[in-house]
Amino acid sequence: MPEPGPANPDVPHVPLLLLTGASGYVGGRLVPLLERQPVALRCLARSPDTLRPLVRESTQVVRGDVLDPPSLAEAMLGVHTAYYLVHLMSDSKDFEKEDRQAATNFADAAKKAGVLRIIYLGGLGDDTDPKLSPHLRSRHEVGDILRASGIETVEFRAGMVIGAGSLSYQLMKSLTDRLPVMICPRWLTTATQPVAVDDVLAYLLAAKDLPPGESRIFEIGCEDVTTYGGMVRKYARQKGLRRWLIFVPVLTPYLSSLWLALVTPAKFGVGRHLIEGLKNPTVIRDRKALDVFPIRTVNVKEAVARAIADTSG
Ligand SMILES: NC(=O)c1ccc[n+]([C@@H]2O[C@H](COP(=O)([O-])OP(=O)(O)OC[C@H]3O[C@@H](n4cnc5c(N)ncnc54)[C@H](OP(=O)(O)O)[C@@H]3O)[C@@H](O)[C@H]2O)c1
Repeated sequence: MPEPGPANPDVPHVPLLLLTGASGYVGGRLVPLLERQPVALRCLARSPDTLRPLVRESTQVVRGDVLDPPSLAEAMLGVHTAYYLVHLMSDSKDFEKEDRQAATNFADAAKKAGVLRIIYLGGLGDDTDPKLSPHLRSRHEVGDILRASGIETVEFRAGMVIGAGSLSYQLMKSLTDRLPVMICPRWLTTATQPVAVDDVLAYLLAAKDLPPGESRIFEIGCEDVTTYGGMVRKYARQKGLRRWLIFVPVLTPYLSSLWLALVTPAKFGVGRHLIEGLKNPTVIRDRKALDVFPIRTVNVKEAVARAIADTSG
């Protein structure tokens, strides 16, 4: 674990950023963007040897696990801003408990280390909806826990991230690629506002430069609203595929997840939690991100076109 050395008067002081989730899809894409900024970057990884070759030499890679508090205490030393881009993706029934524990560990360690800002990417969804899925409720609860630390927390709430390596996009892509005729559950008609990965990255990057202030929640997404069925159609059209969607009322989230397990490569448990969230509308109700950030997001068609064109996965 590198210790912060004595200050060198010849080297201008730059803030130290801690990035979690750097081996994941969103975090992995944020790494090169942060490496081009005037900051020092430290990545926390459960498998540092796997991450090391993927980052610049100047980027620190430390071993850590959000479920292991001592590892967090070390990783937080000297950190100015900490990104929480972790998704435990537990397939256990107790994923909410684990999410809660992980966020609590992270917030506690950040508080003790004197971290000044936490940036978190969570999920859209209406808190006041009594039928909000456990998955989305848990994503919101993580934000609540981070804010309760008293550290200024910038929470972004996003729907499906459209990008080649994003699990939720891959689920939609696999279904559409494989099934010419889809027996569709009702949730394919749920309103949703996905977001292009490039736009998510622009927000995550800009958040570190916000002037200090209160904790805030920003809802982000494409400029237009669609449905999951609409996304299937947009994707199919751009790939030149002819697809028929037949809607049935009886496919429960449980049956849907079994169906997904048959036709997609995603793990059953993960698919199930994601599917449960798909029955809830995920649209932007608060548009203040447009006032605070000079970022104008692309529409769904363009987001899908970029994901199709991206062969890096
Ligand atoms: N993708 C989407 O459509 C979407 C939509 C809305 C919000 N988000 C949010 O965006 C964030 C990142 O999503 P993503 O799609 O990039 O997820 P991802 O590709 O599944 O990456 C998850 C990351 O979490 C790390 N992680 C898991 N368990 C950990 C633990 N115990 N300790 C430390 N790190 C751990 C993983 O590291 P390992 O390599 O060690 O497993 C991985 O780097 C998540 O908070 C997610 O909820 C994503």
